[in-house]
Amino acid sequence: MSQDDGAAEAEATVRVPMNIALVKYWGKRDDLLILPLNDSISLTVDRLTAETTIRMVPGVGKHTVEINGKSVELSSNKRYQTVFDEALRLQRKRKEAEASSADSNGNDPPPIFYHFHVTSTTNFPVAAGLASSAAGFAAIALAIQRILRLDDSQANRLARIGSGSACRSMYGGLVHWRKGEMDDGSDCLAVRTEAAANWEDLYCIILVFDDGRKKVGSSEGMRRSRETSQLLKHRIESIVPQRIQQIQEAYTSRNFEQLARVIMADSNQFHAVCMDSTPPIRYLNEASWQLIDTVEEFNIGGIRAAYTFDAGPNACVIVQKENASQFLKAVLQTIQVPSEDLQVIGKELAEQFDVPAEP
Ligand code: DP6
Repeated sequence: MSQDDGAAEAEATVRVPMNIALVKYWGKRDDLLILPLNDSISLTVDRLTAETTIRMVPGVGKHTVEINGKSVELSSNKRYQTVFDEALRLQRKRKEAEASSADSNGNDPPPIFYHFHVTSTTNFPVAAGLASSAAGFAAIALAIQRILRLDDSQANRLARIGSGSACRSMYGGLVHWRKGEMDDGSDCLAVRTEAAANWEDLYCIILVFDDGRKKVGSSEGMRRSRETSQLLKHRIESIVPQRIQQIQEAYTSRNFEQLARVIMADSNQFHAVCMDSTPPIRYLNEASWQLIDTVEEFNIGGIRAAYTFDAGPNACVIVQKENASQFLKAVLQTIQVPSEDLQVIGKELAEQFDVPAEP
C-alpha cells in the first residue's frame, strides 16, 4: 500500500467481510446521507468477503469500478460517484488544514483532480439480498481510509453513503449501527458492541436459492415502506429499541435461544413490513418458506437454529457448531439440492464441522 502524500498515485488493497443484520435496518430519514430511521445490529460473517483494490490516480479522468470481472455502469450507480466526491472533499479539507498550519515548504500545491479505479472480487453472489454492497462499499471506504489517512468516523461515513449496511462491515463480531439524531449524520455511526468478542462456535450457514438480482432494490423498498407502512412506524417506535437490547444481552450471556427468537422475529417483522407496503414487496420465495418450515421443525423440543432473510430469498441460518451438521442434514432431507452442490456441502461439512464427507 502507498499513501497519498502529494501528486503521486496511491493504491491500497483490503479484504472486508459481509455482515448479516440480526435486527434489520429498513427505512431512511435522509436518502442522500443515508441516515436510517432505526438502529440496527449485525453479525460480521468472516468467511464471506470482498477483496478490493483501489488506485487513486492524479489528473482528470474517469472513475472505473469492476466487480467480479464485470465493469459497473457508473452513470446508473450514482453511489460510487458520491463516495468518490466525498473522499476528495475530505482530502481537500485535510490538505487545507495542513497548509494553514505549516509554513510553505516551496513545493507545488498538489493537483486537485484525481480519479479512482476500483477492482473488487466477492466470494458470494452479488445483489441477491446477501448484503454484498455492504462488504463492497466497506472495502472501498477502508481502502480510501488507508490512502487518505482518514479517521474512523470519516471512513464510517464514507461506507455509509455508499450503502447504509456497509458501515457495519467495518468491524468484527456484533456491531451496533446507531441511527443518531443530527441532521448532518455526525452521530450516525456503527460501533463494536461491548459484547463484540467473537462467539467462537456461532456459524452462519448461507443458503442461496436464487443468485439473481432482486426485483425491488433496497432503496426503493425502503422508500415505499416509509411512505406507506403503518407497521414500519410501530416497529421503529416500539419494537426495535428493545430488540437491540435483547440481542446484546443474549450475545453477552451466550443465550442461543433468546438470540434465535429475536433474530427470527425480526426477520419475520421486516418481511411483514414489506408486505404492509403499497405496492407490497415480496422477497421470499417457495424455497425460503420451505427453509422456514425446516427450521421450525428442527427447533421442536428446543431452539437450535435461527433463520434470517434480507431483501431477497436467500437464507442465513445461525447455528452453534455442535448443531450445524445435523441442521444441514435436515435441510438436505427437505430441500432439493443439485448433486454438484451436494459435493461442495459434503466437503464443507468435513472441513468445517469435523464430520465425515457424506451429506
Ligand atoms: C434488508 O444497506 O443495501 O439488508 O442503504 O439503500 O444501500 P442502502 O440499503 P442496504 O439495505 C440493507 C437492508 C437489509 C437489512 C440490513 O442489512 O440491515
